[in-house]
Amino acid sequence: MRGMYHLIYPMRTYLVVSGQGDEANVMAADWVTVLSHRPSLIGVAISPKRYTHRLISKYQEFVISVPSLEMLEDVWIAGTKSGPSKLREMNMTLVPSKKINTPSIKEALANIECRVVDARDYGDHTWFVGEIVGYTYNEDAFPKGRPNVRKANFLAHAAWTDFVTFEKRVYKTD
Ligand SMILES: Cc1cc2nc3c(=O)[nH]c(=O)nc-3n(C[C@H](O)[C@H](O)[C@H](O)COP(=O)(O)O)c2cc1C
Repeated sequence: MRGMYHLIYPMRTYLVVSGQGDEANVMAADWVTVLSHRPSLIGVAISPKRYTHRLISKYQEFVISVPSLEMLEDVWIAGTKSGPSKLREMNMTLVPSKKINTPSIKEALANIECRVVDARDYGDHTWFVGEIVGYTYNEDAFPKGRPNVRKANFLAHAAWTDFVTFEKRVYKTD
């Protein structure tokens, strides 16, 4: 059966930064998840067709950046164009990360710095597992490190060209 993965949507959309210096690149990625708390592990599924795949394989590190709705135009370029030259069309600012040589994105709500600890092919994607070795975040979006949907417009992906954000209301369970 093909294509039914759309039934798991809406999903959050993230940015994956890879490479260093002039080679630094950014792509959009929905297929991202937390795998473990201790150690802190994050996984991302990346097709071998992506330029990003080559860069992560080469440098064994990547950054998962959390974009806001305000960054949608750049997210779309990151998700539809290939290779570092797309950066020239984008308004993102790459800044040094804390613990790895792959840069972070200044405008992002958060940047999670990862070193690759495993990579395994599943079908037409490679599942890269990264250990979180550093992070930075925007204090308004994450007061005390917790997301605040009233303060920031977190980005989610509904269908190919359709994106949404969360409403500003929080439903409490107790
Ligand atoms: C919202 C969105 C989410 C995406 N999610 C993924 C993903 O999880 N994995 C993947 O391999 N490609 C994903 N893509 C496709 C890549 O972002 C796209 O092929 C991009 O051009 C690759 O850039 P690169 O060749 O510079 O690495 C997504 C695209 C969009 C627009």
